[in-house]
Amino acid sequence: MISKKMEKAINDQIKWEFYSAYLYLSMAAWCERKGLLGCANWMKVQREEEIFHAMKFYGYVIERGGAVALQAIDAPEIDWKSLTAVFEQTKKHEQSVTKRINDLMDLAMKEKDHAAVIFLQWYVSEQVEEEASVAAVLDKIKLVGEGPSLYLLDQELAAWVFTPPAKGA
Ligand code: FEO
Repeated sequence: MISKKMEKAINDQIKWEFYSAYLYLSMAAWCERKGLLGCANWMKVQREEEIFHAMKFYGYVIERGGAVALQAIDAPEIDWKSLTAVFEQTKKHEQSVTKRINDLMDLAMKEKDHAAVIFLQWYVSEQVEEEASVAAVLDKIKLVGEGPSLYLLDQELAAWVFTPPAKGA
């Protein structure tokens, strides 16, 4: 059985994951407006990942006999001054997610909730990938600049696809 404190913390995180999906969808829309369809695709893939993260937490709460309590999702921004700004914010956002996952892990350890510790390990590893993935794109944007060379990078990001982790991962 999940503790009330852990149940509340995970419900807050479910909201945060859905907010992340919302933010990335808003960024995808911005990219589409600017004709950067590959970047928009990358953001839409991120959105799918965030929904996967949220639903994984959802399944866990149910499995542990808790109650999922969905919360209102804040409206994300809709405008950015540049593509670099979009990806800078994405990087910062992922760092904030990592902090939240670490806080959840701290709580699980404090409560000696071994099942939660094992469950959260997946997110700890996932955040390493999430941060690395956005940092790699940001580095490339900085490398090519926001001129015509961006076209090739945009094409590269058009090939990005969401691959759900294998069951049990
Ligand atoms: Fe759910 Fe991108 O972290």
